[in-house]
Amino acid sequence: MAQIFPKWVDRIPRRLLVGIIVILNAAVFGVWYFFSPEYTDVGYKPEQPVPYSHKVHVGKLGMDCQYCHTQAFDSKQANVPATQTCMNCHDQVKTGSDSLKLVRESWDTGKPIEWVRVHNLPDYAYFSHKAHVNVGVGCESCHGRIDKMEVVRQTEPLSMSWCLDCHRNPEQYVRPVSEVTTMGYDPKNQKKMGQRLVTKQNIHPPTYCQGCHY
Ligand code: HEC
Ligand code: HEC
Ligand code: HEC
Ligand code: HEC
Ligand code: HEC
Repeated sequence: MAQIFPKWVDRIPRRLLVGIIVILNAAVFGVWYFFSPEYTDVGYKPEQPVPYSHKVHVGKLGMDCQYCHTQAFDSKQANVPATQTCMNCHDQVKTGSDSLKLVRESWDTGKPIEWVRVHNLPDYAYFSHKAHVNVGVGCESCHGRIDKMEVVRQTEPLSMSWCLDCHRNPEQYVRPVSEVTTMGYDPKNQKKMGQRLVTKQNIHPPTYCQGCHY
């Protein structure tokens, strides 16, 4: 990442540094926003222990996100499914497949599969799935076309300016809650529909520092 602060700043714990800056925010904000690097891990696509494909399970078989990510609407974190969820089908489907060897081993031993995390915010920034998906922010607005991915990759920067761009203009993104997990959702009138949803649900995403840092 681009260096904004001098080197010695690296020795201050990040959480403390952000706290200090947030307190001083009125003074720094303008400067911060414009110099903040549009950083990032876009394209990050770690190899996973099992070649699980969203393209096959979502794109081809038509499974809904909530079949596996059961907590996305109820908690801060969207969980990755337990091996049990895979075995609902794979104790009958492709039972001899080499690609599923690790899944069967995990099932036999009770040891969870060690999926590699793709998206990662620093712990000084607060984020909650529940708060977004229940007001109609679609999974694809933040994760892209998961239904076309053999291997999950990060499609958005997850940077502060990225969060704020939507928080300032939520009408350009919100959709009916019933469409949150839909991939390739294409309303013909986003502007009008978005504006209506924002007014109706009184949507006001935080843009003040403490909204995301506390
Ligand atoms: C059959 C189960 C299943 C379904 C259905 C499913 N997923 Fe996943 N998802 C997984 C598994 C397993 C992982 C962890 C391995 C990986 O990253 O590929 C994962 C990982 C992810 C990740 C990356 C998490 C991280 O580490 O940052 C995202 C984002 C995601 N899924 C979104 C979705 C969305 C959006 C949908 C619906 C369009 C969906 N998934 C449907 C099983 C599923
Ligand atoms: C407003 C943006 C946004 C939306 C909408 C969103 N996500 Fe995420 N997702 C994120 C961010 C940011 C992270 C990283 C969170 C962290 O590191 O704490 C993440 C992480 C994940 C993870 C990894 C586990 C976790 O919670 O950290 C999964 C799985 C996931 N998202 C699935 C989904 C699914 C499924 C949906 C739709 C039902 C969805 N996401 C909607 C932004 C979003
Ligand atoms: C609703 C049923 C269902 C669930 C649940 C499910 N799968 Fe599948 N999976 C299938 C089907 C059907 C295929 C074969 C698809 C094809 O070849 O078109 C498949 C194919 C696969 C393959 C490729 C196997 C091969 O040899 O081609 C892998 C790997 C896989 N699944 C992993 C997983 C994992 C990991 C999970 C849990 C996170 C999971 N699946 C959950 C139905 C399911
Ligand atoms: C595509 C649009 C969009 C993106 C991207 C987005 N948000 Fe939001 N955010 C919203 C909306 C809409 C709300 C709901 C506001 C309401 O309920 O009034 C919200 C609410 C919130 C809230 C307040 C709810 C709570 O739990 O306290 C926080 C905090 C938040 N977002 C953090 C983030 C962070 C951090 C990021 C970037 C990693 C982010 N958001 C990215 C649209 C977005
Ligand atoms: C909508 C949520 C949101 C709001 C509001 C917000 N931030 Fe952030 N901020 C983030 C996220 C997410 C990151 C982490 C970005 C990353 O990892 O690239 C971050 C990172 C930072 C960092 C650390 C940057 C670094 O590179 O180490 C500072 C300092 C910061 N924010 C200050 C502020 C100040 C000051 C305000 C108020 C003017 C503010 N933030 C408002 C979400 C937000």
